[in-house]
Amino acid sequence: MGIEYLKNEGLFRLTAQDTEYVIGIADGVYVGHVYYGRKIDDSRCGYLMRTDEKPFVPSNNIKDKGSFADCFPWEYSTWGVGDYRESCLRVRSADGYRGCELHYEGHRILDGKPRLPGLPATFEAGGKEGKAATLELDCRDHVLGLKVILRYSVFADSPAVVRSVELINEGQQPLYLEKVLTACMDMDGEDVDLLTLGGSWARERHMVRRPLCFGKQMVSSCRGESGHQDHPFLAVMGRDAGQDRGDVYAMHFVYSGNFVAEAELSQFGSVRMLMGINPEGFEWVLGQGESFTAPEVVCVYSDQGLGKMTRIFHDLYRGHLIRSSYLHKKRPILINNWEATYFDFDSRRLLEIAREAAERGIEMLVLDDGWFGQRNEPAGSLGDWKVNEKKIPEKLPCLVEEVKKLGIEFGIWFEPEMVSPDSDLYREHPDWAMHIPGREPVQSRAQYVLDLSRQEVVDYVWQSVSEILKSAPISYVKWDMNRQMTDVGGCCLGREHQGELFHRYILGVYELQERLHREFPDLLLENCASGGARFDPGMLYYSPQIWCSDDMDAVERLAIQEGTALLYPLGAMGAHVSACPNHIVGRITPFETRGHVAMAGTFGYELDITRLSEDEKNMIQEQVEMYHRFQPLVREGDYYRIASWSENHRYDCWQVVSKEKDEALVTYVQVLAEPNQRSRKIYLKGLAPEAEYRLEEEDEECRKEEFSMLDSDEKVTLPSMDGKIYKGALLMYGGLLVPRMKGDFVSVMYHFTRVG
Ligand code: DGJ
Repeated sequence: MGIEYLKNEGLFRLTAQDTEYVIGIADGVYVGHVYYGRKIDDSRCGYLMRTDEKPFVPSNNIKDKGSFADCFPWEYSTWGVGDYRESCLRVRSADGYRGCELHYEGHRILDGKPRLPGLPATFEAGGKEGKAATLELDCRDHVLGLKVILRYSVFADSPAVVRSVELINEGQQPLYLEKVLTACMDMDGEDVDLLTLGGSWARERHMVRRPLCFGKQMVSSCRGESGHQDHPFLAVMGRDAGQDRGDVYAMHFVYSGNFVAEAELSQFGSVRMLMGINPEGFEWVLGQGESFTAPEVVCVYSDQGLGKMTRIFHDLYRGHLIRSSYLHKKRPILINNWEATYFDFDSRRLLEIAREAAERGIEMLVLDDGWFGQRNEPAGSLGDWKVNEKKIPEKLPCLVEEVKKLGIEFGIWFEPEMVSPDSDLYREHPDWAMHIPGREPVQSRAQYVLDLSRQEVVDYVWQSVSEILKSAPISYVKWDMNRQMTDVGGCCLGREHQGELFHRYILGVYELQERLHREFPDLLLENCASGGARFDPGMLYYSPQIWCSDDMDAVERLAIQEGTALLYPLGAMGAHVSACPNHIVGRITPFETRGHVAMAGTFGYELDITRLSEDEKNMIQEQVEMYHRFQPLVREGDYYRIASWSENHRYDCWQVVSKEKDEALVTYVQVLAEPNQRSRKIYLKGLAPEAEYRLEEEDEECRKEEFSMLDSDEKVTLPSMDGKIYKGALLMYGGLLVPRMKGDFVSVMYHFTRVG
């Protein structure tokens, strides 16, 4: 890993493992993008900026400076002086003029990586491997008196390049930042695809791939959260790129609020990728001497398709973003009472659930929504964080004590950012809810959003949450957020600053979560937003796991978890086994399959265990044992996508391989059975080709009667594969034969350990 300044060539070269990112200074002042990709290690690469061809650089052809601006590969494009492609920065002066041109002034190469004030960001980790280096490029617009610092960091153990931007007003007048994206990247590429993640509530982060067409294409959020619908990620990839081959360029935003992720195919066949805070509804007033830092963008290049990109993101987030002390620890298997009881519970019911759960090896009871104020339905009491003594007459500390006596931990749900119109908090402080004076704020799920841009509101939230946490030995918090923003008015901000509210709100959320992280270091925090509406790298900085989706149906989860695992390590994905028929889609799937699918995440249960059959309760015990066996591998290993149900509409398969390549776990789900077929061959990945692997264990169920491959009613058990030995090369290039099973939604797991 390293950052070099090649003075004679006017180049900056950042190397990170097998990749190289090169920045050039054209005409002495213009910061251009030269190259990003496989290591080339040749200082003569500056010609790639095409400044030796028409329209040349402005000092050679001032009459065509406009054409230069419109085709130069800018590292950070600005609005109003000739680049008509999508820009990163648009600034209005105090006199109302828009236009900004940045000139390079100097640079610094730093050991380590500066923190971003108030924002989540990747960090330098311990040891030689975790080291980071940072390049800071100082640029200036002389007319505005605006200084812009472009930051690039690289790490010893990752090929990713991480970017952020700081703007400082060194002029005499306030500046109005109408648009501040964090990064753009220009490259050639007419024949490329665009990959994004999209969906809705209960079907988040499905992969969406389409050809990149002429013009601008974007995904975005202006909902005040990163959202269920779009995700702050995009990748531009070769049309022939797949899981294991082809070039992929990806950007991912370390931020939880409004964003844009955009790609533009321009007139000269160049592609520009951009990412940053959504300019819609945004304007930041930068007073004299003030600075503004735009959140970080992670850039990843992979020369081996999406699979390698995935593993780069996973390693970077595990090594340089997640701070929780739980990162490398086993997470307790929890049971959450939400789908078991919804609001209809009391401490007797909770203890019944806890007792059964403890007997089956579950390790924590999580008390979800409805334990406070007068809340018996999803309306009312948000903000009144006092225990409902009708439901819990013995009060929280006693309930927690009772649960702990059963030998399990206790966790609790909050929705700290909200207030119900029917709450004491709202009656006392109606102005704390975000609103536009004179306008009745829009209710959503019968609630309003608290104005977390106000310090007294942040302090109230902190006090009420921390009071509960201090009142009893609570080990886990589920931090929920169940509505999007409307009526974005900040009554304390003043006329000029209303455009700051979305961002200031997120800074308030980050402040609260930072305090939680600092003052309750042993607490396991799981973020959640109506399922996965705030599953983003920003949140990962504060919580090691995030609730993936309210949809726990094993089949729906395949696409949701596939898209989520594209970027996030499996240990970050909140996944539970829930009851059937599934509460959202009504589908009935085998208990085993639900277990296998949830095993690809943090693992837990969300059902009424007291109503399960004895068989199902026994299966919980088996799944618990399986989780204990496999969780270090799932949490720490390399993830490989083998087959995607979203693509083939029949089956899904993924694999996790330990870093040492001495263990692998394959999960195969047959979504729809096919008649008159033979076994299916799947090709494993990531093993050591020369090593020998023993199939330690095969889920017996796939060989038993009801899943027999025979099309008759005859009950036959297929010969066992348990204990068989295979060479890594055989499993990867020859393949593994998975018997066809009878029935839809059935699954099997294969566990291999290296024996030589
Ligand atoms: C939405 C969450 O995603 C659910 O898991 C549950 O906690 C409900 N909120 C409670 O209101």
